[in-house]
Order: sequence, then structure tokens, then C-alpha cells
Amino acid sequence: MVSMETARLLLRHWRSSDHPPFARMNADPRVMEFYPAVLTPAESDATIYRIDAHFARHGFGLWAAELRSTGHFIGYIGLSIPSFQANFTPCVEIGWRLGADHWGQGLATEGAQAVLNYGFTQLEIPEIVSFTTAANLRSIRVMEKLGMVRNPADDFDHPSLPEGHPLRRHVLYRKAAFSL
Ligand SMILES: CC(C)(COP(=O)(O)OP(=O)(O)OC[C@H]1O[C@@H](n2cnc3c(N)ncnc32)[C@H](O)[C@@H]1OP(=O)(O)O)[C@@H](O)C(=O)NCCC(=O)NCCS
Repeated sequence: MVSMETARLLLRHWRSSDHPPFARMNADPRVMEFYPAVLTPAESDATIYRIDAHFARHGFGLWAAELRSTGHFIGYIGLSIPSFQANFTPCVEIGWRLGADHWGQGLATEGAQAVLNYGFTQLEIPEIVSFTTAANLRSIRVMEKLGMVRNPADDFDHPSLPEGHPLRRHVLYRKAAFSL
């Protein structure tokens, strides 16, 4: 599996030493504000196993993000194929989750730019999407900084959330390879 370097980040394969810091992130209500719930350590570990399985199956996935200056694991940035069905699936999604201590420094955008370039030029994916609940303005801002574009007609209700759930309404952003 490839790893990628940006000015400040190493995007790499997951290591067993990533489990504890990932579990701490996933137990942080700030990080999980726009997910249904914080995760237990077992749920956090299961997320890593699912990510590993995705890499094994597709050759790409959500890379572990390490801060080059310290060598510390700080979260993930990468690509995944959503397992639910919607009017825009099948598709390849770009996603990100970083520990709150590392927000607001442009790190998600920096890593995601490298992932987009890799997805378009090496994997030859014609279009990459991103989606989040409508209130997640930080994540939406990252999508916009990457040059992704929202068509409000693509907004959707996430099928795994029940009717009336406050996070159910999602926005969809797209970027096509030719718009690099
Ligand atoms: C979303 C996330 C990855 C962003 O990481 P980051 O490294 O802080 O992102 P960046 O610094 O590249 O960009 C964040 C942008 O959001 C802006 N922002 C921060 N808080 C904001 C808010 N409350 N409202 C609107 N914009 C906001 C920042 O100012 C910045 O934009 P700017 O460069 O124009 O100033 C990070 O907040 C995170 O991990 N959140 C929790 C997990 C999550 O929600 N993941 C996405 C699920 S789809």
C-alpha cells in the first residue's frame, strides 16, 4: 500500500500503536459532535479493522495521518466506498477525522489535497464525493477549500439514521477529475 507525504503529514498504513490515540479521539465529544455517538474503545478498534479490510479489498482507504514533526498519529484522511445505497452510489468518498488539538491549521485540507491528487491521477477515479451532516461547517469548509462543489439537489437523508434524527440531513459535494 502506498504512503504519501505532504509538507506536514505522513499518510500511511495503520499500526497497532494507533489504536490507543484513535480510541481517545473517538471518545472525545468534540470530535464526534456530528456522529451519532462517541465510540467505545472496542468500537474504535473495530473501525480500524474495517479500514484495514477496505484497504485489503480495494487497495485504497482511510490512511492513518501522522504529524511528521512529532511522529504522532493524529487521525485519518482518505478514500472509502460507502456501504449504504443512495442516488449517488456507488461512489468513492473522501473523508477525514483529526484529533481536536490539531484542528484549525489547514492539516485536513493539506492531506485531503494529496489524497484527491492520488485518487484522480494514480487510481484514475473519475469523480470523488464528500458528504456530511448539514451542520458540520468545519468539514463543509474543507470540502469548499478543496474546490468541491455542492448541488443542493443532491442533499439527502442518511439511510442509517432514523427519521427525525437531527444529523439525518446531509449535504453532498463532488469534484470531477477534469476539474483538478
Ligand atoms: C473536519 C476536520 C477534519 C477539519 O480539520 P482541520 O484540519 O481543522 O481543517 P482545516 O484547518 O483544513 O480547515 C478548517 C476550516 O474550517 C473553518 N472553521 C472552523 N470552525 C468553523 C465553524 N464553526 N464554522 C465554519 N467554519 C469553521 C476554519 O476556519 C477553516 O477554514 P479557513 O481555512 O477558511 O479558515 C476536523 O474539524 C475534524 O476532525 N472534525 C471532527 C470529525 C468530522 O466531523 N469529520 C468529518 C465528518 S464528515
